[in-house]
Amino acid sequence: MHSERKMMADGVKPDVCQPSGSAELPMLDVYMPMMKSAAIISAGRLGLFEALAGGPLSLAALADAIDASAQGVGPLADFLVTLGYLEKHGTDFANTPSTQRWFTRTGKVDYTPGLLWTQEAWPMMGALTDVVRSGAPERPFWEAMVEKPHLGQLFASYMAAFACDLGPDLLTHVPVAREHCRLLDLGGSHGLHSIRFCQRYPQLEAVIVDLPSALSETGTTIEEAHLSTRIQLVAGDLLDYDWGDNLDLVFYLSVAHNHTAEENRRVLKRIGDSLNPGGWLVIHDYLAEEPLNAFHAAFRLTLLFETGTQIYPYKDYCAWLGAAGFGEITRIDLNPHEKGSLILARR
Ligand SMILES: C[S@@+](CC[C@H](N)C(=O)[O-])C[C@H]1O[C@@H](n2cnc3c(N)ncnc32)[C@H](O)[C@@H]1O
Repeated sequence: MHSERKMMADGVKPDVCQPSGSAELPMLDVYMPMMKSAAIISAGRLGLFEALAGGPLSLAALADAIDASAQGVGPLADFLVTLGYLEKHGTDFANTPSTQRWFTRTGKVDYTPGLLWTQEAWPMMGALTDVVRSGAPERPFWEAMVEKPHLGQLFASYMAAFACDLGPDLLTHVPVAREHCRLLDLGGSHGLHSIRFCQRYPQLEAVIVDLPSALSETGTTIEEAHLSTRIQLVAGDLLDYDWGDNLDLVFYLSVAHNHTAEENRRVLKRIGDSLNPGGWLVIHDYLAEEPLNAFHAAFRLTLLFETGTQIYPYKDYCAWLGAAGFGEITRIDLNPHEKGSLILARR
């Protein structure tokens, strides 16, 4: 079998930036990711992957199903085949197993909201040059969401898809005891983590604190899960909000990277002061390591652009947690590594 086809059969997507001959072609590094990203996002926006979720379709039937022209869908679908997102069954097009798994409602997690978010994020990235020049975003990401509320909703939907992926890891690793009743979910956004834990542990009641822009759909999601009496929403800034004490469990999931080191130090100290003995703080984040790998380096650049913040090394978390009075600290690196790490800290 030709090596590229064999790789795809093994579920490994081709590196489309590599020239097919031996000569170097540096513009492929710029042109091909742009086209790859544009094609996958367009397919998500058109509902092309979802249209193929029930099985292979001819070009004409696929174009018809997504209300697009066969002249347009043909070149898009052919390119997606070369990228390892679609495959040909005779003359029909079909999702690859990976596409079916990650970009359709029948799959394990549907990351289509991530495609819709990236469509919005892409034009914003045009300002990266200015942010690098000045060293900080002109205004934080969250302010743009107040001005354009659909951005907050799209971002929360993207985070919800990620939460579906992360949820089983959290349930596996977070030890909730029978006496643990009060959960505080800081930056809880879509609410899915609180919902999942309240469903698993009937004694739990949760409070979700997040900025108003992130909570537009959360009340409805909680109602649909029949948990409105057990999960309370607080629209506010976690840096100011007084959440009281007597807590058993605090989630700080993908939130530390949106704050400065000093803000994190202060928040973790306040969490430490309000947790009951034996209570757990659960942090999810990407831990900066030297040298940074490509994913972490890309994420750090994204954070510079979005919030002017960064990812932190594990030793920083240990220092903040130690100063906040946490004794037992455990680090769990998730698989795959791009899913980030959990830090469990006990009072
Ligand atoms: C990357 S998202 C993570 C969402 C969720 N915890 C999860 O793991 O899927 C970060 C969340 O923190 C919220 N956030 C950021 N700064 C905040 C602040 N100062 N107060 C409250 N929420 C904040 C954002 O609105 C967003 O919902």
